[in-house]
Amino acid sequence: MQRTLVKDALQASGPMDSILLQGWVRTRRDAKAFSFIELNDGSCLKGLQIIVDATLPDYAHVAQASTGASVAVQGRLVASQGGGQKWEVVAAQFTVLGEADATYPLQKKGHTLEFLREIAHLRPRSNLFGAVFRVRSRLAYAVHQFFQERGFCYVHTPIVTASDAEGAGDMFRVTTLDLANPPKTEQGEIDHSKDFFGKKTFLTVSGQLEAEIFATALSNVYTFGPTFRAENSHTSRHASEFWMIEPEVAFCDLAGDMDLAESFVKYLIRDAQQHCAADLEFFAKFVDKELAARLNFVLERPFQRCSYTEAVEILARSGKTWEHPVAWGDNLQSEHERYLTEEHFKCPVTVYNYPRAIKAFYMRVTDGCAPDRQTVGAMDLLVPGIGEIIGGSQREERLEHLRAGMALHHLEEKNYWWYLDLRRYGTVPHSGFGLGFERMLMFVTGVANIRDVIPFARTPGTAEF
Ligand code: 4AD
Ligand code: MG
Repeated sequence: MQRTLVKDALQASGPMDSILLQGWVRTRRDAKAFSFIELNDGSCLKGLQIIVDATLPDYAHVAQASTGASVAVQGRLVASQGGGQKWEVVAAQFTVLGEADATYPLQKKGHTLEFLREIAHLRPRSNLFGAVFRVRSRLAYAVHQFFQERGFCYVHTPIVTASDAEGAGDMFRVTTLDLANPPKTEQGEIDHSKDFFGKKTFLTVSGQLEAEIFATALSNVYTFGPTFRAENSHTSRHASEFWMIEPEVAFCDLAGDMDLAESFVKYLIRDAQQHCAADLEFFAKFVDKELAARLNFVLERPFQRCSYTEAVEILARSGKTWEHPVAWGDNLQSEHERYLTEEHFKCPVTVYNYPRAIKAFYMRVTDGCAPDRQTVGAMDLLVPGIGEIIGGSQREERLEHLRAGMALHHLEEKNYWWYLDLRRYGTVPHSGFGLGFERMLMFVTGVANIRDVIPFARTPGTAEF
């Protein structure tokens, strides 16, 4: 007999004579003549109530069906007597597949998120994490849907790379060299030509540079994959391994890039509301009471836009005392970003045209900017509660400007020879951005720590599981 998922059973249009369900026991309550079992199989937030009659031959097994045990139930789907749910199952056969004794850590009581992180192998069985990972799966699907509907081509950019896409140097090395006894050159330095790939290699920080190759051939492309940062950031918004979505669009300028980013973020929110309504209700009830109102508010209004220079003036006029005082030329810190989006604009805001020196080498120098206040066509989308969720830019398509940018950032041209070729042969204006998938999930679920929206968090000092 074929298994029915709880989600489908709960949506049944009428009673059924025989149905097979398999899942895990959330709770069991024993009365004199029956036991009530709440069965959950992860297909949706809700469980299905199973009634096992004490006269059933299999009733002897019920005692082993403790919280956490896996069970199979075959029986009748009938209209529920009690309130709260439409259907329940009256068991005809009841089997315990795998017991779980009293040491099972997810007994029915509230656990802290910190504790649940320590049992990341079991936490998907909790209501909260089941909901988070269903939303994660749905939004991954929606990412592809958004771009495929718009004629974008999905490009698989490499995970192992020799180039530093951000030019920031916070990369994890990939090597098969014997660390205790590495091959040496005659000068006594480590001989990287003897390494697996014949050169120094790393885990990628971004697929952007390779996406640019494809955008200058296929016009509209996107990547969606894991990226890695070896920054020693201990915050609730940084992970060492995270997933990033990076569209890259030929013949598109910074304004077009900001428009695409805004419609993408709104599309993902709408998709989650449509397809994960029960899970979002759960977050709104137990995680973040403001969630529903905030998401609706964000959908209804156009995102605000303000230049970096205006942003610095707003911060200076705010009357706030900043932990990091900000003057033109400084990077915006999290406290500044959050002030702009949460207190000043009270809305998502895209800050654009940042000082050249604090942004990546590949960003396009703004036409007509003052020589002593050079800016590049960068844009960061900031959202309430999180801060930066998207970083993007118009790319420098002019060869000489790009070379100057590389010199400014002390990058060697020989490491980027193919990237420079894109400007030598049929160069075009083009733009793109990166959306941090986990930060988007935090925004949509209200979950405050990045460690709780990724199945197995990699952060400095932790790589369990
Ligand atoms: O601003 P970032 O570093 O931009 C890039 O990597 C560009 N190459 C993207 C592009 O233009 N194609 O990163 C983009 C986004 C950030 O806005 C943030 O949402 C997320 O990636 N992000 C992180 N998320 C989690 N943990 C980290 N350590 C992150 N670093 C960046
Ligand atoms: Mg950024």
